[in-house]
Amino acid sequence: MRNKPFLGISGVRCLHLTNEVSQDRHYVVGLIYLLLSLFTAPVFAQNEPRTIQDFNKNWRFHLGDEAKAKDVAFNDSDWRTLTLPHDWSIEGQFSEHHLSTTQEGALPTGIGWYRKAFTVPVSAKGKNVFIEFNGIYRNSEVWINGHSLGIRPYGYSSFRYELTKYLNVGNVKNILAVRVDNSAQPNSRWYTGSGIYRNVRLITTSPIAVDHWGTYVTTPAVTNQNASVTLQTSIRNAFGGRSDGKPQTVSINSVILDATGKEVATSISAAVRLLDTLSTVTQPFEVKNPILWSVDKPYLYKIVTRVYSQNQLVDTYETPLGIRYFKFDPATGFSLNGQSMKILGVCLHHDLGALGAAVNVRAIQRQLELLKAMGCNAVRTSHNPPTPEFLDLCDQMGFIVMDEAFDMWKKKKTKQDYGLNWDAWHKTDLEDMVRRDRNHPSIFMWSIGNEIREQFDSTGLTITKELAGIVKKLDSTRPVTSALTENVPEKNFIYRSGVLDLLGFNYKHEAYADFPKTFPNQSVLASETGSSLQTRGHYDMPSDSIRMWGKGGPTKFTDGNPDWTASAYDNEAAYWGSTHEQTWKVIKKYPHMAGLFIWTGFDYLGEPHPYPWPARSSYFGILDLAGFPKDVYYLYQSEWTDKPVLHLFPHWNWPKGKTVDVWAYYSQADEVELFLNEKSLGVRKKTGDELHVMWRVPYEPGTLKAISRKAGQTILTQTISTAGKPAKIQLVADRNILKADGKDLSFITVNVLDEQDNLIPDASHLITFNIQGEGELVGVDNGYQASLEPFKANYRKAYNGKCLAIIQTTEKAGKITVNATSEGLQSSTIELSSR
Ligand code: GAL
Repeated sequence: MRNKPFLGISGVRCLHLTNEVSQDRHYVVGLIYLLLSLFTAPVFAQNEPRTIQDFNKNWRFHLGDEAKAKDVAFNDSDWRTLTLPHDWSIEGQFSEHHLSTTQEGALPTGIGWYRKAFTVPVSAKGKNVFIEFNGIYRNSEVWINGHSLGIRPYGYSSFRYELTKYLNVGNVKNILAVRVDNSAQPNSRWYTGSGIYRNVRLITTSPIAVDHWGTYVTTPAVTNQNASVTLQTSIRNAFGGRSDGKPQTVSINSVILDATGKEVATSISAAVRLLDTLSTVTQPFEVKNPILWSVDKPYLYKIVTRVYSQNQLVDTYETPLGIRYFKFDPATGFSLNGQSMKILGVCLHHDLGALGAAVNVRAIQRQLELLKAMGCNAVRTSHNPPTPEFLDLCDQMGFIVMDEAFDMWKKKKTKQDYGLNWDAWHKTDLEDMVRRDRNHPSIFMWSIGNEIREQFDSTGLTITKELAGIVKKLDSTRPVTSALTENVPEKNFIYRSGVLDLLGFNYKHEAYADFPKTFPNQSVLASETGSSLQTRGHYDMPSDSIRMWGKGGPTKFTDGNPDWTASAYDNEAAYWGSTHEQTWKVIKKYPHMAGLFIWTGFDYLGEPHPYPWPARSSYFGILDLAGFPKDVYYLYQSEWTDKPVLHLFPHWNWPKGKTVDVWAYYSQADEVELFLNEKSLGVRKKTGDELHVMWRVPYEPGTLKAISRKAGQTILTQTISTAGKPAKIQLVADRNILKADGKDLSFITVNVLDEQDNLIPDASHLITFNIQGEGELVGVDNGYQASLEPFKANYRKAYNGKCLAIIQTTEKAGKITVNATSEGLQSSTIELSSR
């Protein structure tokens, strides 16, 4: 990347140089100023003046309250040392004692303290120093050297504090102390985790620097030939939070780089006078023949902004840029870059299964990879702002994001929730979400709330207007929506406020057909669908009897199976929801439905509807908590991708003579023929709006074979054989070569097989892991919603033939050997390596 300083000299006219010719002219002008300045100005700064430091290491942690832990003199030498992000809840044991409702996952909560001692080099003198937290769950208070910097109740907001005026520079230690209070329960309807569960950074800047979340990029006009891009930059001029009152003059040079690092547009504003602490500068650009961002080709540019003061570079700041345009239309739904498409989304909560809420970028990336391979192109961050790395990945991987702020407003949903903080905090929290996230090209809509209780009374009118106003003031380029449940227009006060640009409706798929009449001239989508219930590898027959479960409420066992399972045939759902097929058929049919967000992509901790304890995680996922696909994953793959799919299920180990429903999802073929022990059981074709085919087969052991054909040609073949005796363990790593950065992960699937490599469909062997070399076992799981084994252990029982081990690298490159043993099974070892 070329560094082309433009040295601001007072009186220089503001230059907006956009085309190639004028850019060249700019180089010449810049060069002249540079040469002149060599005689008049101090030596050009060599180092980038902004430093961003990963601040996750060497924290001390203590579970429980400590009255004096904020004091510098407090002795924390017997506290545990750890690296953030950290979630103490996930380290605990499941217990009924941790339940205040069944919804938050039955793991411990409470109060925890973190402390970190650090020094700051003398070179930081005269600089501003900030600590940035991506999120602390919940009710945090932060102190530096005994001074309180502030509190933050909402566990999903990102924030920073300035440390400058309290900081010791040089060899004297500084102490950061953070108290986290997640003791008041229940405060959520799902598992939240507890602690500093997202990344922390230390930022050092010059007194004149781009402000926190200080840029805002928009693309006011985009065609295939040309994109106009506007960048607004807020420049802060203050030291230790205060301005010295002296006006300063700066010049700002921003360049747009394409994905290869080539400069494609420049904008210079010279001689900007900073009179106040905060000043805003607007820079326009033109990008010729832009490559547009889309879900299939998420092309990213980036803007690099350099701020010069008194001929010195005082700040460099990067802003992501994706160029795209889109529209929601009441009749035809959603279009991206002029092309009609459906939003094929899932809702996600933030936990990462066995890793809990503790952010790990690879774990999030794996989830998104699995969803992408299913054909999913969108995510709703239900029901809170996600960690910022999640949005970076969505930008890079091509997901359309509904960024959601709240699960409740002032009227709470659980006794101790954010409703209590609403009056004091909602404005700040909502503003911070939009400011933090508005440069992400992946974000297409802002949701101000999920199933908000105020939709049912007139307070909904005022609050909706206020919230939509807050969002629009900061970003008017995306629609404001809310996930609503009340679809009778007169009864829905959020809708009646008249300020929503897009209506999101949860469930009630029977109502979709009439939306153009019920909500004329309104763009609509299904913000939440399904809530169908499944346990991987479990099948309740007959598969065509649909059961709607859970009318008895979350604490009573009224219906379901005695072993807390649900059926993977897509024939069970929460009573307010639907099967996967029921809703997808309707969404598919009506062009006015812009898309859907299925509840949910992955199972999550908490909300084990319809079961009470000991069930402790949800059944709604298309993939289970360990990330293993349930059968319905292939339904979506067959509908949402162009690749040929053939997925045959269930397993083939049943009591002799039992009538078994055999299903196949298929695509890119006209028909499927099923054979049992080479004898044809007939050809089936999907007709009408059918999404699967089925054979009702009297069971006999042997091999089931399905062949999908198109115009008589075989497209795919799949066989399932009756498994014999459990014989061995198979280990399959999702990645064998890892980064030696202390963060990277390999997800290792453990399969229990017979001699012929058939999966044992009900195997529940206890598997023990032994890891050697430069790796560590950081989590185990098997996806069973009622397993009470801990996630942090060196063992796990298989569930329906499978379990998972998650290996994390150390910072030292080397070999990692993973060995798995179990009584009566041949053990298995695989080798990974980290670089
Ligand atoms: C919805 C709610 C979700 C989740 C889901 C379970 O009504 O918005 O957060 O609780 O039900 O079916």
